[in-house]
Amino acid sequence: MLALLSAYDREAFGETGLRSYDLGVVARAGSLFLGLVDGEIAACCQFMRMMDEPESAWVVGFWVRPQFQGRGLGRAFLRELLGLLGESGIRGVRLTVDPANRRARRLYAEFGFRELERIEDFYGPGEHRIVLAWDEG
Ligand SMILES: CC(C)(COP(=O)(O)OP(=O)(O)OC[C@H]1O[C@@H](n2cnc3c(N)ncnc32)[C@H](O)[C@@H]1OP(=O)(O)O)[C@@H](O)C(=O)NCCC(=O)NCCS
Repeated sequence: MLALLSAYDREAFGETGLRSYDLGVVARAGSLFLGLVDGEIAACCQFMRMMDEPESAWVVGFWVRPQFQGRGLGRAFLRELLGLLGESGIRGVRLTVDPANRRARRLYAEFGFRELERIEDFYGPGEHRIVLAWDEG
């Protein structure tokens, strides 16, 4: 399962996709959610509770597989996830997004995520990211 999820992560993010090692850690120490369509894995989201802000969760990854995109699944999954996190006492969410990823940025903006900062080379040379924050209420 972890190898399959790693392949899907790389399908979504290429080089910066998670390895099965990373996914195993998140599955044990954080939370790993799957979105299923007719029993097939269509989406995935991984969270870790933040050490510095224990009431916030860091989104390690979030993707909808290409063949399931553009049908409202990402929006529905994100809405569900924010609700589930609230039930675990999580009041805030932080994540990074590629500045060029307009689709994801639009989706997050719709949910009220705000831009905290842009960090150059966040994941290595040329892998710049914007840090976004969402807080309950
Ligand atoms: C970003 C992602 C999760 C969105 O999932 P999705 O299921 O395709 O999104 P939805 O169908 O729920 O659409 C939600 C919104 O996303 C945006 N969006 C979706 N498809 C889009 C497209 N082809 N062009 C531009 N914006 C688009 C729109 O704002 C859309 O709202 P609308 O339907 O009112 O126009 C998905 O595209 C994905 O997994 N991409 C690759 C991995 C990734 O970038 N993950 C996020 C990393 S931070």
